[in-house]
Order: sequence, then structure tokens, then C-alpha cells
Amino acid sequence: MKSNFERILITAALPYANGFLHLGHLAGAYLPADIYARYQRLKKRNVLFLCGSDEHGVAITVSAEKEKTTPVKIIDRYHPANKTTFEEFGMSFDNYSRTSLPLHHENAKEFFKEFHHHHILIDKKEQQLYCLKDKMFLADRYVEGTCPKCKSAQARGDQCENCGTWLDQTELIEPKCKLCGSTPVVKETTHWYFPLGRYQERLEKYIDERNKRDGWKENVLRYCEGWFKDGLKDRAVTRDLDWGVRVPVKGYEDKVIYVWFDAVLGYISSAKEWAANIGRPEEWRTYWQNNDSKYVAFIGKDNVVFHCIVFPAMLMAWNDSNPDNFVLPENVPANEFLNFEGQKFSKSRGWGIDVQDFLKFFPADMLRYALAVNLPETRDSDFYLKDFQARINNELADIAGNFINRTIAFIDKNYDGKVPDKGEFHKLDEEIIEIVKKAPAAIGSLFEHYSFREGLMETMNLSRAANKYFNDSEPWKTLKTDPKRCSTTLYIAVQLVRSLAILLEPVVPGTSKRIWSLLNLDTTMKDEGWDSASEFRIEEGHKLSKPEILINKIEDKKIDEILKFLEGGNNKTEGQMPPLKPVITINDFQKIDLRVGRIIEAEKVPKSTKLVKLQVEIGNEKRQVVAGIAHHYKPEDLTGKLVVIVANLQPAKLMGYESQGMILAASTETGELTLVGLQSDISTGSAVK
Ligand code: MF3
Ligand code: ZN
Repeated sequence: MKSNFERILITAALPYANGFLHLGHLAGAYLPADIYARYQRLKKRNVLFLCGSDEHGVAITVSAEKEKTTPVKIIDRYHPANKTTFEEFGMSFDNYSRTSLPLHHENAKEFFKEFHHHHILIDKKEQQLYCLKDKMFLADRYVEGTCPKCKSAQARGDQCENCGTWLDQTELIEPKCKLCGSTPVVKETTHWYFPLGRYQERLEKYIDERNKRDGWKENVLRYCEGWFKDGLKDRAVTRDLDWGVRVPVKGYEDKVIYVWFDAVLGYISSAKEWAANIGRPEEWRTYWQNNDSKYVAFIGKDNVVFHCIVFPAMLMAWNDSNPDNFVLPENVPANEFLNFEGQKFSKSRGWGIDVQDFLKFFPADMLRYALAVNLPETRDSDFYLKDFQARINNELADIAGNFINRTIAFIDKNYDGKVPDKGEFHKLDEEIIEIVKKAPAAIGSLFEHYSFREGLMETMNLSRAANKYFNDSEPWKTLKTDPKRCSTTLYIAVQLVRSLAILLEPVVPGTSKRIWSLLNLDTTMKDEGWDSASEFRIEEGHKLSKPEILINKIEDKKIDEILKFLEGGNNKTEGQMPPLKPVITINDFQKIDLRVGRIIEAEKVPKSTKLVKLQVEIGNEKRQVVAGIAHHYKPEDLTGKLVVIVANLQPAKLMGYESQGMILAASTETGELTLVGLQSDISTGSAVK
């Protein structure tokens, strides 16, 4: 059984180049991948860390249609933008590729041809949905309907976002063309199918074996079990579209390869591009086709089936007929979703914040830290700006930053910036030495097992211990009363600063680099390595750089600014009436319990320019409701008003306040808003039907 790998191949899901990256993307796949890659590099392992833009598929063509432009214009706008955003966020990719490259098209075609040649792919005549008005087959997201499994509306032709089911479009209930809203007809077309079912047994064994070896996450295992239980089916891997990788089979040139079938191969293309760029075009094989290489694929939960089932099956199929065997993922540590201020990120609803916008207000390391302490590793987690401020101020600044600053400043002031003598260690010293000795292995083991949140918590515990050591040692007193003690304290403190610089690097690389330069060492962090964080390596008499403040606290003003920006409707679309939602039945509607309520108290939510906190009377109940209406109503004008409230809505937290219902209001796309009122007085609690 293998546990020591010389090489580590790391990939992070290729984001679609049809929109800007938001914080949810970072928390789902990219930050954990980067922490892992940076940690492994400090462990002095050979790391290849790859990503790139996913530029095919209906996600791109629909965006192009919406913006009345071409797919090429869309990808040429978002690919460079996302690449830059990733750089600003500190992602340490070795290559950021794109699937529109000829090199990728060749790579995807090679796989397709290979499967075709070995009769793995089967062509089948199938009934597919066709829109008579738009004169096209409705691939994937071009059709929406009700999910056969969870019955949620607005499931797409290839996947239901609500329950994650990977669908066949013909299974959709009441399908509608996404472009014109009409009901499509069924028409025959031929597609190539990949026989996933044939690989089920091997896939189950594969996941079981890797799980035993590398400990897969519970959530990922559960998703896979679900698919295996339903039984894997043949899947069409071609589409009737003209955007994508052309099917390399005679007579089928007017079709393209299904986006997921080409996208996962993008990881291999990215490695090939990297190898070409470094001038050793065959070097990609040392990561992809080498049993000493460990492959870890970081993704968000909506991508599990493609990475744990489809991609491994494709690689198995290739390996069956080729001597050059690809490695399969050793692990696929998928994260759950991050919510923003209590709600799901949603591009269509304009909810959330783009990374590039966030970084206009705060440095990348602050965002990295706050996301890392709150990663949705086992369940969905929430990002609140108030939490963000508190985390940075009370943890990063007050604990880590403060300890480092006071140590460097003390040595600068009292020892002319030179590391004082070690002297003799006492009990207090021995205790902290014990703690730091164990830290790299303890934190490292958590990182190895993809527990980045906990790993960071351990690092912060070390910072806390270091701060406490400084306080308990009282060097500002011993400077006069016991100079030898004082010098030992500062000798140790500065060693701890060095250890923290190394141990913090995977999470806050920019800050870590600044700490390293404060120490004025002539080695790099990577030279010294992760494990050296347990050792004291700075010599007596070594001259440090001038102190400087590492982390500035976030003032309330700054949070207000970003809130204002968010509420300014930064991502609102102008224009016509928003599209109508799919038809629902009377049963669907009757699930909603609407009641008459009276506002009896109203006050503004502090720090928010948009939210008002209301106490609403419904019959003999009182509810607290937080509503985004402060731009439109003064609190004092609200009291006494009769309103309609959704009374059976699951409670949610907004800016830290529980909201137990929703008040109905009419609003325009440009943000005008008016409450839905009643024509005459009627007792509260009455049902609205
Ligand atoms: N573009 C997909 C998404 O954003 C992810 C593709 S991952 C890949 O959900 F491996 F298929 F590229
Ligand atoms: Zn569903």
C-alpha cells in the first residue's frame, strides 16, 4: 500500500469563463487547493498545481446570447479577468490554461478517437428535445423543467441544481425551451454514448480502495453511494451544438463533444501546456503517468459525479488499451457551499460579491484568512461581513499580528534590532518550546487530511500560546530587573515569529512573506521548509529589519463602505421585465402560508443602510422580520402598517438578526420598491389566498 508519494499533482475545478469569480468559488475549491499546494511545496515535495478556464458548453453560449455577443467574446472577456483575479488572490497555480486552446482540442479529440477506435463509445439514435421556433436541439441548459427526482422547478437539461442529480433531458417534467419558453417537441438524433454502467463495479472498488488509503470525505462518499445505488447508465457524450470540441468521427463533424467530457481532460491539457512552456514537453508525464505521483482533485460539491465517477471511468478506459497509464484521483476533497449574509450566492439574482470587487476593499490575505477559518468542509457555511471584521481584528491582528509586532519592536527598541542571547531556559521557556516542537507535524497532518480549517485553528493556537508566553514572561519588567531572563524571552519570541511565518504561509502567503522580510534572513522559507518550524534557527546577534505594522484592523467605516457598494446594486441588470418563472400547480402555491400582519415596531439594523428590523403581529403571535426596505421607508412610517407576510418561511439570519418570515413587496429591476398593502382593515392572522 502506498502512502509516500514523491510527486503531487493538484488540480482545482476549471471555472466557466462566463462570469466573474465570487467568494463562494474560493471557499468551495480554490483556497483549499492553494493551501494544500503551498503546504506540500514547503514540505519540499514536487508539486504541479493546475487550473484553467472551462470555455465550452451551454453555460458559455447562453451567456453569449444573453449579452447579445459571441462565445469567443465571452471567454475572451472572462478568462483573462479570472486569471488576474486568481493572481491577486494569491493562487499559486503552476499553469492556468484554457480549454479553447488548440492543444486542448487535440487532447480531447485524442481521447474521443481512442474510445471510438476501441468501440467503447456506442452510437445510438435517441429522442431528444427540439425547439421548433429556435430550430435547434435543446442541449443541457437550453431546456429547463421540473426535476424528476426532487420535483424542484428550474432543473436544467443536464443537472438539477437543487438535488445534484445528473439528468437526461428527456426525464425532465414539463420541459421548456430556455430561449423562447415554448414546449419543445421530441425529435430523433444520433449521439455517442459512454457506457458508464460497465465501469460501475470497478469504480466502486476504486473509491473504496482510495478511501481506505487516503480517507475520503463523508459528503463525497455519500454522493457516490447515491449514484451507485441508482445504477450508472450510458451517457451521451456528444451534443448538437456548434460551440465546443468537434467530434472527430466521420459523418459527425457537425456535433461537439459534451462539455464535461472535454473539461476534465483540460487538467491533462493544462499539464501539457505547462510542460511545453518550461521547454520540457514530455515532463507532464512525470505527474500524470507515474505511479509515484499522487493526484488530488479539488472541487465544489456540484462537480462530484464528474470527478469521482465520469473522469475516473474515462481514465480507466484509456488505461485499458494503452501502456501509458494515467493516475486516477487519490482523493477528491469536495467542499459544500458558502452562503453570503445568509443566502446562496446566485449570479442570476445578483446576490453575493465578486472576488475582484472584494479585493478593492481588503487585501487578499484578510479574505484568505476569513474564508479559511470558515471553509464549508463538512457542511454549508456562511460568510458575514461582521464576522469577517471580527475575525480579522480579534484573531489575525490581535493574536498573530500583535505578537509578531511586539517582538520585533521590543528587539528593535531595546537590543538595537539584534537578536539577544539565548541564556538559560526556565520552565516557562521549556513549555513553549515543547508546543512549537509539535506544531508543524500536528498542523501538517491536518492539512494532509484536507482539514484546513482545523489546521489553521492549530496555527492560531500556537499564536495564542506565543502571545501568552510573552505576557507571562513580562519582558518589559525583566528588562530592568533580570536582563538575562529578558534576553532569553526575546530570543525565544523571535524564533516563534519565524515558526509562525512558515506555518502561516499556506493560508496568508503575503503576510508571511512580510514577516520573513522583517526577520531579514538570507534563506527563503522554502529552503528551510515546513518541518524546520519546530526548530530555533535564528542566531544570537542576528540583525532584524525595522519593525512595521503587519495587519491593520478593519474599521467600521470600511465595512460600511463595502455594504454601501453591495447595496448600490452593483450587479443589477437594466431593462425589461424579468423573465417569468416556470408554471407551478395550485398545490405548489398552497404550500406558501400568507398571512395579514401588522408592523408594531420598526428600527434600522445597525451597520446596514438597507435592512430594517420589524416586529410583526400575526393574530396572537409576534414575529421578528428583517426586511431590505430601509431605502424606501423610514422606520417611523412603518409602524401600524398592515402587510402581507410569508408565515411559513424557514427562519434565516440577516446581519446577525433572525428573520422569521418575509414581507411581500413589489420591486422593479432598478430597485424601486413598494410594500404590498391591503385595501381595508382586516384582523391580523387572516389568511391571504
Ligand atoms: N466549469 C465547471 C463548473 O464551474 C467545472 C469544471 S471542472 C472540470 O462547475 F474538470 F470539468 F473542468
Ligand atoms: Zn432535483
